[in-house]
Amino acid sequence: MTNTPPQLITRPHDAAGLHHHRDALLAVYRKVYADKLDNPFFTVDRFWERLERYGTNDGFSLITGHLEDELVGYTLGYTLARGARWWQGFRGDVNPGVLEEDGTRTFAINELMVLPAHRRQGYAHALHDALLADRPEQRATLLVRPDNIPARTAYLKWGWYILGKLQPFNDAPVYEALMLQLKDATAD
Ligand SMILES: CC(C)(COP(=O)(O)OP(=O)(O)OC[C@H]1O[C@@H](n2cnc3c(N)ncnc32)[C@H](O)[C@@H]1OP(=O)(O)O)[C@@H](O)C(=O)NCCC(=O)NCCS
Repeated sequence: MTNTPPQLITRPHDAAGLHHHRDALLAVYRKVYADKLDNPFFTVDRFWERLERYGTNDGFSLITGHLEDELVGYTLGYTLARGARWWQGFRGDVNPGVLEEDGTRTFAINELMVLPAHRRQGYAHALHDALLADRPEQRATLLVRPDNIPARTAYLKWGWYILGKLQPFNDAPVYEALMLQLKDATAD
């Protein structure tokens, strides 16, 4: 007999929805990043400042995932602006044109999290697919720590590939920059 996990209900939101769901989003963040909240970069206030800033970008989208009344995870991102600083600190062997942003070509995912008690049920995958469904951009990008085995394993399984390394600031960790093709590059 197999146990089928309850189906996640996903809901899309814009920046107004982000603000509306602030407390619930931060409650999930506190549980997911419980062991990092003492680190100045990971405090709840700093996290909320980042979310508010993401919400001001064109193309911002938030997907929340629910099991009945419980928020169990979410993901969000936005379209990279023309000349976005996203690629500063990139190290890798790619054609420079790959790192040029024209304001329409790339969707950046900034967060993806699922409560510890609800992991390995395919919920992150469902959130990820809901976020990327019907995006107008050609491609998506995100940064992942190489030692984040659950996330890295998931992304590589879902079709993402490693473009190179990226250290956004001198004192920031070195991430892997991943990319996912959303459309055939010749389709536009
Ligand atoms: C990464 C995260 C969102 C995955 O959530 P999830 O709901 O458990 O993911 P899914 O159930 O959709 O798993 C998808 C795949 O990821 C991989 N995966 C997930 N957890 C894993 C683990 N602990 N070890 C190895 N692979 C793992 C598996 O390939 C899995 O597929 P499978 O279960 O069929 O083998 C979750 O672990 C999380 O919230 N982590 C903390 C926040 C974080 O690091 N976010 C990513 C920032 S870049």
